[in-house]
Amino acid sequence: MARHIKIFDTTLRDGEQSAGCSMSSAEKLTIVRELLRLKVDIIEAGFPASSPGDFASVQEIAAFVANQAVVCALARAVAADVEAAGEALTKAQRGRIHTGLGVSPCHLKDKLNMSEDDALNSAVGAVKLARNYTDDVQFFAEDAGRANKTYLARVLEAVIQAGATTINVPDTTGALLPHQYGELISWLLAHVKGASEVTVAVHCHNDLGMATASSIAGVLAGASQVECTINGIGERAGNAALEEVAVALDLHGEEMGVECNISLGKLTRASRLVMSISGMKLSPHKAVVGANAFAHSSGIHQDGVLKNPRTYEIIDPVRVGARPTQIVLTGRSGRAALKHSLAELGYDLDEASFLQVHERFVSLADKKAQMYDEDLEALMAEHGRSQDALWKLSVLQVSCGTPKKATATIELEGPGGKKCTTHAFGTGPIDATFKAIDELVKAPQADLLRFAVQAITRGSDALGEVSVQLSNEQGQVFSGRGADGDIIVSSAKAYLNAINRLLAWNKA
Ligand code: KIV
Ligand code: ZN
Repeated sequence: MARHIKIFDTTLRDGEQSAGCSMSSAEKLTIVRELLRLKVDIIEAGFPASSPGDFASVQEIAAFVANQAVVCALARAVAADVEAAGEALTKAQRGRIHTGLGVSPCHLKDKLNMSEDDALNSAVGAVKLARNYTDDVQFFAEDAGRANKTYLARVLEAVIQAGATTINVPDTTGALLPHQYGELISWLLAHVKGASEVTVAVHCHNDLGMATASSIAGVLAGASQVECTINGIGERAGNAALEEVAVALDLHGEEMGVECNISLGKLTRASRLVMSISGMKLSPHKAVVGANAFAHSSGIHQDGVLKNPRTYEIIDPVRVGARPTQIVLTGRSGRAALKHSLAELGYDLDEASFLQVHERFVSLADKKAQMYDEDLEALMAEHGRSQDALWKLSVLQVSCGTPKKATATIELEGPGGKKCTTHAFGTGPIDATFKAIDELVKAPQADLLRFAVQAITRGSDALGEVSVQLSNEQGQVFSGRGADGDIIVSSAKAYLNAINRLLAWNKA
């Protein structure tokens, strides 16, 4: 039978300790609702002795959670802290006090100014006091990662005897390599009397970017509780990320002989919520929940995932509540990706049309960082307009600025595929372009009624769509549109589109 790994979420306590991330009681309660949906086993709600606000918030969370999860309150190994934690948890149906102190030489000497024996006595005293409030007492040996192993074992043995039911072995500074942390857990399980009768918890910080790896190493070594935060928020470089731990246990649980309760489908939603409440933005490449975690951009990868997502995805995005595999169209995308994206938008092109659109796509994607659905729609509209056009734009070069007049050199493909070129001056590049078109097309006289430019997508490299309206001598109005990354080119296309309509009307 698989060993159950309890997930202890400390987003509201260790997570909230990250710089600039304090949360109101109402915000904490919103996160608690999400943690319950995720089915975490234990919620560390706060540190009641730290402020009246934290005390009240722990009280509120304890009452709200009822028996849906264990609610835990942090306390240093001093009587006032333990009492505050105990009182804040009065309404908890399953309350846990988490008390402890630093055990490494540096914490003992420089932070606590205590001898090893005094610290051990404080630890035992705090655990005994906590047991007056609840049977569920967790002890943390802060900075266990850098502690003297023999002393650490002595402290843990003493607190187990005093009534601790969970012993937490934090790598508070994230100093250890995963295999070293795993070895520490194995060693403690072998050398601390009573350790196998209580829960051993892992609590890893991410200073070397190894918090998740170390936590998993701890589980492999026999730990049965992982302490983590949503999005890995926490002091300095943060804590182990709950979503990474949960997915790793899901993917490798069978071979590790373990399982956990986390409802994976709620991970993305929980991540977004914590990001918006805490203000801690995620990097796009953050594992499991980053914006690009399931985005494929290079042509080779896109071709692979379109054939079978497993070629480049070990996690099914839908399983963790994310949008399905995203194909990000860029200049590096291949034909398969473009065909797939067009099909998703409902376009089914014959091979000849597809090749024309692809050629246009490549030249646009070369200039733009990313092609969005709106860009593809504009591309297809442009393709449709060019199909029956009498006059098409082949080349446009403009020179403008100050103090000289603007000039436009243009090449058009006219009826029968004939190419012709000219250049014209104007007050600006658009005026010069329109004059050059007029000179080549020689359309009947028409007035420009409207000229409007609009960005199709975000960013300064967005496609610009131009719409124009012309009116002929009979008062008939002809609209034209054009889209391109260069708004002078868009203008030329829009103007030609309106002229082509005017010429078609004349012919009819
Ligand atoms: O990192 C740490 O040691 C802690 C303890 C308070 C558990 O957060
Ligand atoms: Zn911590």
